[in-house]
Amino acid sequence: MITFQDVWDYWLSEGNLLLIEKQCPVGVCHAFFSKNQVWIEGIRINSNFRRQGLASELVKHVESLAKEKQILFSFMLIDNENSLSLSMAKNLNYHIFQTWNFYSLLPQFNNNHKIQFGNVINYAKTHYVQSWRWLVLDEETLLLLSKQNKIIFSDVSGDISIAILTDSEHFDKTLIVTLFSGSQNNTLNLVSYIQNYGAEKNYKKIQILTKEKLPLLNTLEHKITFNLMQKFLH
Ligand SMILES: CC(C)(COP(=O)(O)OP(=O)(O)OC[C@H]1O[C@@H](n2cnc3c(N)ncnc32)[C@H](O)[C@@H]1OP(=O)(O)O)[C@@H](O)C(=O)NCCC(=O)NCCS
Repeated sequence: MITFQDVWDYWLSEGNLLLIEKQCPVGVCHAFFSKNQVWIEGIRINSNFRRQGLASELVKHVESLAKEKQILFSFMLIDNENSLSLSMAKNLNYHIFQTWNFYSLLPQFNNNHKIQFGNVINYAKTHYVQSWRWLVLDEETLLLLSKQNKIIFSDVSGDISIAILTDSEHFDKTLIVTLFSGSQNNTLNLVSYIQNYGAEKNYKKIQILTKEKLPLLNTLEHKITFNLMQKFLH
């Protein structure tokens, strides 16, 4: 998981790092504006200043910046078990848009996979994950990712499974995979390929984000379940 130390400099350099100060900083969040959406991350309020509406104030401020930019949607990711944040988000009229699972996979050499590279426009999904941000997956992005050989799929048996491979921008040698699982066989095929790719390219960690539950494998560990919260800004 990402800590503040890991991302602080990165957020500072990106801009839109918002602080609430009461003599010293007591609350923080970061906003990332991209195609038609704002991503809100890192909301944290000093424990002595909670329940005073400060987090809600930060979120509302980001929403107003987004509206100025004619952005229609706001998103944030909340751990399934973080009931305080979930109730905060619901109070602010966010709803659970999708639920995602985070798995870690060990890199491992093998040759039992048969996958293809290519564009999968016909199977377009709404979002993919780039450095733990869920970004819009439109045709233009699909085309770009496919040109960079970042989209792999398997359709040897049953519904197609698709994976998008990206490098973490915060951590060295960390592969982040968005996986859309169609059938178990196709998904196992992709997972084997990704494991082998991870070993060949010397990745230390492979992080898989998927809406589906993945098959049990001893190299695959389910870490956490998240809710992707969405609000329509109008
Ligand atoms: C979650 C967190 C950001 C909330 O900050 P906050 O400034 O206390 O939140 P607000 O005062 O704006 O509260 C908004 C709503 O959230 C809910 N809420 C927040 N804290 C709560 C608590 N301790 N008990 C019950 N509900 C709570 C309530 O619905 C509250 O509305 P209400 O006070 O009108 O009932 C803060 O507790 C925190 O920093 N937690 C640790 C980090 C974290 O979990 N970050 C969120 C990652 S998405």
